Amino acid sequence: MPKKFHLGWFTNFTADEWNDPLAAGGGKPWNGKYYVEMAQALERACFDYLMLEDTLMLSDAYGHSTEMYLKKAIMVPKHDPAPLAALVAASTSRMGIVSTLSTMAYPPFLLARLCATIDNIAEGRFGWNIVTSGEDTAAQNFGMDKLPPRELRYEMAHEYMDVVNQLFASWDPDAVVMDRVTDTYADFSKVRPIHFEGKYFKCRGPLNTVPCPQGRPTYVQAGGSPTGRAFAAKHADSIIAVANGVAGMKAYRDDVRSKAAAMGRNPDDIKVLFLAAPLLGDTDEEARDKFNKLITSPAFIEHSLAKYGSFTDVDFSKYELDKPLPGKLTTNGEQGSLDKFQQFGSNKTLRQLVADGGTSSSIELVGAPDTVAAKMGEAMEEVGGDGFLIKSPFRNNSRRYTAEITEGLIPALKRRGLVRTEYTQSYLRDTLREF
Ligand SMILES: Cc1cc2nc3c(=O)[nH]c(=O)nc-3n(C[C@H](O)[C@H](O)[C@H](O)COP(=O)(O)O)c2cc1C
Repeated sequence: MPKKFHLGWFTNFTADEWNDPLAAGGGKPWNGKYYVEMAQALERACFDYLMLEDTLMLSDAYGHSTEMYLKKAIMVPKHDPAPLAALVAASTSRMGIVSTLSTMAYPPFLLARLCATIDNIAEGRFGWNIVTSGEDTAAQNFGMDKLPPRELRYEMAHEYMDVVNQLFASWDPDAVVMDRVTDTYADFSKVRPIHFEGKYFKCRGPLNTVPCPQGRPTYVQAGGSPTGRAFAAKHADSIIAVANGVAGMKAYRDDVRSKAAAMGRNPDDIKVLFLAAPLLGDTDEEARDKFNKLITSPAFIEHSLAKYGSFTDVDFSKYELDKPLPGKLTTNGEQGSLDKFQQFGSNKTLRQLVADGGTSSSIELVGAPDTVAAKMGEAMEEVGGDGFLIKSPFRNNSRRYTAEITEGLIPALKRRGLVRTEYTQSYLRDTLREF
């Protein structure tokens, strides 16, 4: 039997396929029902988790203007993923739900309380995607002029994790006794303040919620820099990653696994899921045709450049499409994504870089469901595990794309014995550790 791998689904709480020819019901995802239906389809397909990306600003990186972002709904509107996570949790029963929450934005107490609340609503299926934010425009929404430099952000985030871990542990798992005989709800001796005083944070504690069913939420992280990977190796239960091709995926996974082992953790407790954007057709030719049309369309090129601009704070509108980039670009934002995109040293034109990397897929997955399933299986065998985080290669999520994956690709993967066919665990962390 082949080794099974894990699947997550990547989206944010954003516009749906409002302008698609098959979108009679589109345009109103804001009550969350669109995402609930998506989550239920993913749960029927046995995904490990639905991951909700988030950022906290409206970008003006592309051409120093918000026009492109608002006109084309690129990375905006973006509604708060936390209430959606609660709604999805209440409308599903087995799949995990992960929300991004930034350590820059939330005081640790509020974040720990929010996570404990959602993990209880989700009955142990909630995950927190730990981010430090990556844009000056986001920092400016929180009283700063500029985003702190990456190294400082991570130093603060390590201390932040100390605070929230102590808060999650501030109630013993058996603190709630509900003893009718003594009329005792909670045993006060099992709930303690933390009196945390660090360099950046100060917090009295304890939490005023009951404990998380999982003890603490499942931790998801996406650090790409050496410091980011070390952070993930220390804290994460699952890492969401981008890499260039199978060799890049293997190098990434090997690196975080060895970092985790050096810290005394079992590397198998960390599941690295690589971003992948499968593009399917009834036949390989049809899929290839769709892919070629997509990556050469002016709308896709503009969309990709604006999107990369928003999470790297780089203005790609100033570079010529048919020339290579003038030199190596750096950012205080998502350097890993930028490095993957710019393929420094390849001498490819910007147009070629978009064709290669515009969908953000770690490997190219274009073909009929069986072809793509086989390719995913081969890639995982070479990489060693642990799975993929699937996102749409198209501009928006769509019901059609969700159906293609859940009704086409997933059955092909299941026929090959490559992915789960049932949930056996109650909690998300246990689901991830099942294999
Ligand atoms: C698949 C993936 C998803 C990410 N999701 C988010 C997100 O939702 N919000 C966010 O602010 N950053 C997000 N990031 C950025 C990471 O948190 C991190 O800042 C980035 O990977 C760069 O790593 P570094 O900070 O170590 O340089 C994501 C990155 C990747 C690869």
